[in-house]
Amino acid sequence: MKIFYKISEIKEYLLLQKALGVKIGFIPTMGTLHSGHLSLIRRAKADNLVSVCSIFINPLQFNNKEDLENYPKSLDSDIIKLESVNCDILFSPSEKEMYPEAENTIYDLCGLDKYMEGAFRPGHFNGVVVVVKKMFDIIEPLKAYFGEKDFQQLAIITNFVKKYHIPVEIIPCPTIREDDGLAMSSRNVRLLPAERKAAPLIYKTLYKAREMAPTSSIEKLKKWVINELKKDSLLKLEYFEIVDCESLEPVNNLAGHKKCIACIASYAGNVRLIDNINFL
Ligand code: PAF
Repeated sequence: MKIFYKISEIKEYLLLQKALGVKIGFIPTMGTLHSGHLSLIRRAKADNLVSVCSIFINPLQFNNKEDLENYPKSLDSDIIKLESVNCDILFSPSEKEMYPEAENTIYDLCGLDKYMEGAFRPGHFNGVVVVVKKMFDIIEPLKAYFGEKDFQQLAIITNFVKKYHIPVEIIPCPTIREDDGLAMSSRNVRLLPAERKAAPLIYKTLYKAREMAPTSSIEKLKKWVINELKKDSLLKLEYFEIVDCESLEPVNNLAGHKKCIACIASYAGNVRLIDNINFL
């Protein structure tokens, strides 16, 4: 695997590849890679001749200084994992390389950032889109791969490339789960043993809520979810919302609503976890 830390060097290398007509698949990450990330890389490898993974902990998308400081870092073991799936290129720039000057671009996210993560993490999605756009400009991939666990991020980026005519195809990839249902996340390594034991209740609750949906009102479902998560004192629910898959607007009545998704954010101890389930 080739590793680049400098924008000029990766650009120069990829220029040659593109001149040869090579298709590039891109997987942006913030590192501490898990099987979910590796599944994105396998998918990118199946679709393209060259796979480029980036590892960059993007300070712009953290609205909380402590969260940024505590975000796990593990470049050496990430490199081993990337090599195990034959990733072709790793791009891991420094903060100075990515943001040589203060960055204050604001994008129009068409209101998709009003809800859920956007409401609880002001500025988060603008930060995500700023870094993704910069990465797209550097790498110029044909396709980019994003996990469905971060459903709102995926919806915002899909809308963003369409709105700003960015010629990158966004490929959604399914959430990969542990055997007990917990969605894989880089943040899971920070869970203490008791929190790790408590965390699968988040997905179990989503799953049961979907089963109950045909015979329940949204109000009742919400109350039920709130009470379920209260059963474990290590979990602290931040939100549970059932939203339209495209507009992300909260749905008030499931009848006749074909494409909706239930999204949840909960703390397990000090670790903030998100997950979702399709209510199609
Ligand atoms: O999903 C993530 O890990 C990040 O938000 C991303 C897309 C790599 C941008 O920093």
